[in-house]
Amino acid sequence: MIEAAEFRLIKLPLNNGVDHMPALGFGTLVPDPATTITATRDALAAGFRQFDCAERYRNEREVAQGLQAGLAVGGIERKDIFLATKLWNTNHRPERVEPAFEASCERLQVDYLDLYFSHTPFAFEPGEEQDPRDQDGNVIYDHGIALLDTWRAMENLVAHGRCRAIGLGDVGLKELKPLYEAARIKPAVIQVESHPYLPETELLEFCKEKGIVLQAFAPLGHGIRPGPLEDPVIVAVAKRLGKTPAQVLLAWAIQRGTALLTTPKTKAHAQENFEISPLPQDAFDDINGIQTRERYNTVVKTGSPGFIPRGR
Ligand SMILES: NC(=O)c1ccc[n+]([C@@H]2O[C@H](COP(=O)([O-])OP(=O)(O)OC[C@H]3O[C@@H](n4cnc5c(N)ncnc54)[C@H](OP(=O)(O)O)[C@@H]3O)[C@@H](O)[C@H]2O)c1
Repeated sequence: MIEAAEFRLIKLPLNNGVDHMPALGFGTLVPDPATTITATRDALAAGFRQFDCAERYRNEREVAQGLQAGLAVGGIERKDIFLATKLWNTNHRPERVEPAFEASCERLQVDYLDLYFSHTPFAFEPGEEQDPRDQDGNVIYDHGIALLDTWRAMENLVAHGRCRAIGLGDVGLKELKPLYEAARIKPAVIQVESHPYLPETELLEFCKEKGIVLQAFAPLGHGIRPGPLEDPVIVAVAKRLGKTPAQVLLAWAIQRGTALLTTPKTKAHAQENFEISPLPQDAFDDINGIQTRERYNTVVKTGSPGFIPRGR
């Protein structure tokens, strides 16, 4: 079995044929600006080298501050970290893609990105309002634009050397397959909700066949309780192995060949979430046998972010 120290640093090859992405990633969906800075810095100090941002999170400047503090203290260079951010739904019009990308780079204080995602497949009315709604509270979509139009503009960013790879957020096979076929530059990564209650097995198989990395968000079920963190199988495996439920869930995600994003906001959780070890086969099989099925984030239905605690 692979050593724990190696397991934590697993890198997945990207289909651009050149780059590798650290499987274990830190997500920056942290609502509070001050906590964004400390959580980002602590994640870097704990060992995380993959960081996921988004213009939608409105905290790219604070992520940059956290990274710069951590890089300086740790003697870590920009090239040692893998940095991604995402294009928001209101910027899907091709002429808006490059300005949105450059604005993210400016806020993140970097001159290139390792990966740029379309956050969701939904185009919203273009403009500065990130959440455009009509008078009845319904999302205003931009029906004049197809995901492939946006993708073509993202392909240009790779062609011009502004980012190393491009990916898709919140897609299922229905959106991924036609785009994959039509794309000149294939999606390198897709970012979707995934945990033992939402294993996305068919999607993962397609991705593996095509050399696309599936990146799991909410690997801890977004910390919602009850949820995967309190699942009896997870708790039993954790007890058996002397690990925490969070460590078991993160190890499972890495072991099945996905990348992941977790968002510990404290130093203690950052260390705990980095210090994962491979699972023995029987534990891995037990987790694969979990039958509960639950999706916590409704973003795939409307393009509007949101987690639903179970039972609501
Ligand atoms: N593409 C999309 O539409 C989309 C949607 C959602 C998220 N994302 C990305 O995915 C990232 C991760 O998503 P997520 O926030 O759902 O991640 P998560 O890691 O599944 O859940 C985070 C929650 O789990 C708790 N937690 C973290 N470590 C823990 C531990 N060791 N023990 C117990 N609880 C722990 C955190 O609490 P503490 O605050 O106490 O640490 C926090 O409340 C986001 O930051 C974002 O980058 C993308």
